[in-house]
Amino acid sequence: MSKILEFLSKRRSVTAKMMSPGHLKIEDLKLILNTGLRVPDHGGLKPWKIIVINGDSRKKFDEDVILKEYKANNTNPTPNMIKIESSRLQRADTIIAVISSTREHPKIPEWEQVLSAGAVCTTILYAAQSLGYAAQWITEWYAYNTYIISELGGNPIKDKVAGFIYIGEKNKNPKERVRPNPDDHISYY
Ligand SMILES: Cc1cc2nc3c(=O)[nH]c(=O)nc-3n(C[C@H](O)[C@H](O)[C@H](O)COP(=O)(O)O)c2cc1C
Repeated sequence: MSKILEFLSKRRSVTAKMMSPGHLKIEDLKLILNTGLRVPDHGGLKPWKIIVINGDSRKKFDEDVILKEYKANNTNPTPNMIKIESSRLQRADTIIAVISSTREHPKIPEWEQVLSAGAVCTTILYAAQSLGYAAQWITEWYAYNTYIISELGGNPIKDKVAGFIYIGEKNKNPKERVRPNPDDHISYY
């Protein structure tokens, strides 16, 4: 088996809850980002935006954006909810937000452009995991919030968050989860 297939057949996400921030080396971040851009993209439209949130920006985004928006939509939040909403991004060292930003095109349907943003997420996730980092693809409620999309530089009217890829350090190796039975999902025509 090739090394890549061996990695792909064993890799496992580590949930944000189970990771600690750790330290993502700057050269690894560059590798992860550059690899993430090498995705299939019909017509080369580059229908995505990639935003890196790390260092002090995580706390700022947590408190000034996520918590602020949470409070605007939830009256009387409990102290526990405030704790959760004010520290979401600080579960990881680096969060890479991938925004699907499609445009009208005479030949390339929007659907294909959206798929390309998903490919960016997958590739970033796998790149980070291949370097031994803990990583998870997350959306959570704030992915679907228009104020948060605009704070990330997206167009809240049409852009969508494809995912936040959380990257940190493994506390321990995750257990395998139940994987689909190929016979239930694959057929031959
Ligand atoms: C688009 C998308 C959004 C997701 N959002 C969340 C989320 O908000 N919270 C969560 O716990 N898992 C979410 N997941 C699933 C996690 O990434 C999950 O840990 C993953 O399925 C683990 O599988 P793996 O080990 O095969 O990578 C999402 C997955 C996808 C594809």
